[in-house]
Amino acid sequence: MSAVLSPQTAQTLLSVEDIRTFYGETQVLFDVSLQVAAGEVVALLGPNGAGKTSTLRSILGLTPARSGSIRFDCRDVTQAATHEIARAGIGWVPDDRRIFPTLTVARNLAIARKKTRFRAWREKECFEIFSALEYLMHRECENLSGGEMQMVAISRALLGSPGLVLFDEPSQGLAPKVVQDVMKTITRLAAEGVAVLVVEQNVQSALAVADRVYVMNLGRIVHEGPAQRLRSDAALRMRLLGV
Ligand SMILES: Nc1ncnc2c1ncn2[C@@H]1O[C@H](COP(=O)(O)OP(=O)(O)O)[C@@H](O)[C@H]1O
Ligand SMILES: [Mg+2]
Repeated sequence: MSAVLSPQTAQTLLSVEDIRTFYGETQVLFDVSLQVAAGEVVALLGPNGAGKTSTLRSILGLTPARSGSIRFDCRDVTQAATHEIARAGIGWVPDDRRIFPTLTVARNLAIARKKTRFRAWREKECFEIFSALEYLMHRECENLSGGEMQMVAISRALLGSPGLVLFDEPSQGLAPKVVQDVMKTITRLAAEGVAVLVVEQNVQSALAVADRVYVMNLGRIVHEGPAQRLRSDAALRMRLLGV
C-alpha cells in the first residue's frame, strides 16, 4: 500500500528544517525550521540583525544553507540554483525593491513573466490591485516613488506565477495608504491559495494579516504560534517584540 499523506503534509508548500547558514566563517542561522502552507500567511518577525533576510536568502538559494534541508512543493531545493527555485514557483519581493531602474515599468513587468505549475497572474489583475500602475507603464523605474516601485516589485512577483511569495519588509518607508494596499495584496494572494512568508518590522501590520508567526532572535527561532495569540496577549507581544 502506498503511503498516504496527512492533510497537513499535503498542504505544506515550504518546509525549512534545521538550516544553518554562514557568511564566510560567520554562522548567522542556527537550526532554523519553519513551514508555510498553501493559502497561509506566515509572518517572520524579530529585531534588526535577527536573521530574517538571511532566512529568505537561504530559501532563494542566494546564500545556500550549509546544512539542514529546504523543501518546496515536494522537491528538495536546499542546494538548487536561484533561477531553478524561481522557476519552481517561489517569488520574491526584496527589501530594496530591486527592479531595473533604466527600464520602463512595462518592460520590468514583461521580463518578470514566467510559467510555473502555479496560477498565472495577468497584468490586468495587477492593475486591479494597484490602480495607479496602469498609468505608470511607460515611465522609467528610476523616476518612481518608493510606493510606486513597491507596486512594480510586487506585480513582478505575481507575474512570475508564484506558489509562494517571500516579502522582505514590504511596508518599509511607505505611506500608510500604500502599506494598506500591500497588506490587502497579501490577503488576496492567500485567498487565491498562494503561500506567503512576510518579514516585517511593522509588527502591527504583520499581525493584522498573518495566520501564524515565527519570531527570530540572534539567528534562532525563539517563538512560533498563531498570530491570534500575539494579537490578544499584550504581555507576550511586549516580551517577544517589544510593542
Ligand atoms: N552579506 C553579509 N555578510 C556578512 N554578514 C552579514 C551579511 N548580511 C547579513 N549579515 C549578518 O547576518 C546577521 C543577520 O542579518 P539579516 O539576516 O540581514 O537580519 P535581519 O534581516 O533580521 O535584519 C546579522 O548579524 C548581519 O550583520
Ligand atoms: Mg532584513
